Amino acid sequence: MTNTHSKLPAPMISFEGVDCSGKTTAIAYLQELLKEKGYQVIRSREPGGTPLGEELRTMLLTKPMCAKTEILLFAAIRAEHMNQLIFPALANGNVVLCDRFIDSTYAYQGRGRGETENTLWAENFVLEGFEPTFTLFFDIELEESLKRLSFRETKDRFEIERQEFHQRVFNGYRERFQDNPHRMVRIDAMQTIENVQEQIKNWVETVFVVSYPLPSS
Ligand code: TYD
Repeated sequence: MTNTHSKLPAPMISFEGVDCSGKTTAIAYLQELLKEKGYQVIRSREPGGTPLGEELRTMLLTKPMCAKTEILLFAAIRAEHMNQLIFPALANGNVVLCDRFIDSTYAYQGRGRGETENTLWAENFVLEGFEPTFTLFFDIELEESLKRLSFRETKDRFEIERQEFHQRVFNGYRERFQDNPHRMVRIDAMQTIENVQEQIKNWVETVFVVSYPLPSS
């Protein structure tokens, strides 16, 4: 997919990976690191990101629905999120960090639910060529993810799915990573939190600040 929105002055970084891959801790770390370096940073998430998106999030994570409804609701949330938050924030020079984005839909609805064509159709409809500038892919073995998930007290509608579903989601992420080397960066999420942070810091220093230097640096 070509990025027809490359005129936007700031980058968007999405965070992707199977459940319990350590994305949320990593976002907080990257947010602080970029702020320390002088960047303006806005953090968001999907499903969610806007008042309407947050209401739809609650439905999506709790109410039973067919796969097509699920795809359309994720797409609706994303359209609202891009229009209300992501594009205005990027246009104002903010780096946008987003916990999950298009690769989650490919992995969970496309591969997990077996609706790849409809998922890609919805992606094209909503994104119109836009894609995150960078995606940090938190790569963790499925067994480790399921082990961590088993310790969670409250689980959403996706987290309680059978192992075969999680296996398909896992495969979907690996495929997406193979197909998008221009934006997806692999973080070895089997390592300790300190090591994961070190990997992120290295990427920031060798890639991010080189691609998006601060005006004064
Ligand atoms: P998440 O916010 O990562 O939940 P938590 O922080 O509690 O782990 O994501 C909620 C769930 O939504 C997650 O199981 C994956 C699912 N999801 C999809 O199925 N498709 C999507 O497009 C997105 C963005 C999320």
